[in-house]
Amino acid sequence: MKATAIAPANIAFLKYWGRTNTEFRLPANASFSMNLSEAKTTTTVSFEKDYSTDDISMEGSVLSQKEKERVVIHLDRIRQIAKDTRRAKVVTRNSFPKSCGIASSASGFAALTMAAQAALGMTLSERELSILARLGSGSAARSIPDGFVVWEYGDTSDESFAHSVFSPSHWDLRDIVVLSETKKTVSSTSGQDAVDTSPLYKTRLSRVKSRLSRMLEAVSLRDIAVFGSLLEEDCLEMHSVMQTQTPPLYYWTEETKHVMKEVLRMRKEGVPAYFTIDAGSAVHVICEGAMVESVLDRLGEVRCIINAPAEGARLSTNHLFL
Ligand code: PMV
Repeated sequence: MKATAIAPANIAFLKYWGRTNTEFRLPANASFSMNLSEAKTTTTVSFEKDYSTDDISMEGSVLSQKEKERVVIHLDRIRQIAKDTRRAKVVTRNSFPKSCGIASSASGFAALTMAAQAALGMTLSERELSILARLGSGSAARSIPDGFVVWEYGDTSDESFAHSVFSPSHWDLRDIVVLSETKKTVSSTSGQDAVDTSPLYKTRLSRVKSRLSRMLEAVSLRDIAVFGSLLEEDCLEMHSVMQTQTPPLYYWTEETKHVMKEVLRMRKEGVPAYFTIDAGSAVHVICEGAMVESVLDRLGEVRCIINAPAEGARLSTNHLFL
């Protein structure tokens, strides 16, 4: 049987950086994100008896051996649950450029998880899908539910899943991703292996729990000023941890710093916009829908993708191959 799923990427408003268990990708803290309407992965999976090997491809791009192996490992997890040994054909398509500062592993593993389990005749619950997607890529857990999503800390694998806290229509927020030409050289998976070497890691962890509850309160009240200052605080703390790891991880470029300064400048001029940055050089400028034109005016000539809050992963009948 063949199945197709579409899943959004997400932007972390309160970041996940550090794990208590590497194999199960258990996060050291709960995190919070918004699904992105214009950054989606579509994946079609079919399992057939006569396939001798897994055949994995991405439209418009060449996947590395390492990327393909990560997909095969994830297919093995799903085959094991379904008690099925058939090999798969996987075709995937992104609506946004690879390694541009939008995490394609989140949308990629969320879409792969949902499509593969359906192609094997399973109907896993949202919680089960989120847990399974997490094993492929941590942030993929957050691309399964709708809208604004919390991924819970958990002592065991069964306890660490993501769920929706507000629907996409709750708040007309925008994530204007200023696209970057710089490809990241260290993946977030390997970057996190050295998180313990930062003297600031434990300090950040001691602060994120209270920050998350204040941030959720601000989002529930749609209070952009309180939300935005917590957003920037968490981004800067996570990047301080990254930059003080051994070896240090600098995802920022001159362009990144330039856009961050522009955001501070526009705020001084009365435009309520805030920045956040994941494991990459692209700046995500966060503002309310009514402010998009003012932000774009001030950003000038940049390439960007403007995202609204979006629903989570869904099955689709538009397959990528016959
Ligand atoms: O799930 P990963 O391995 O892609 O790690 C994501 C890490 C950050 O993007 C930096 C933060 C986050 O919570 O998404």
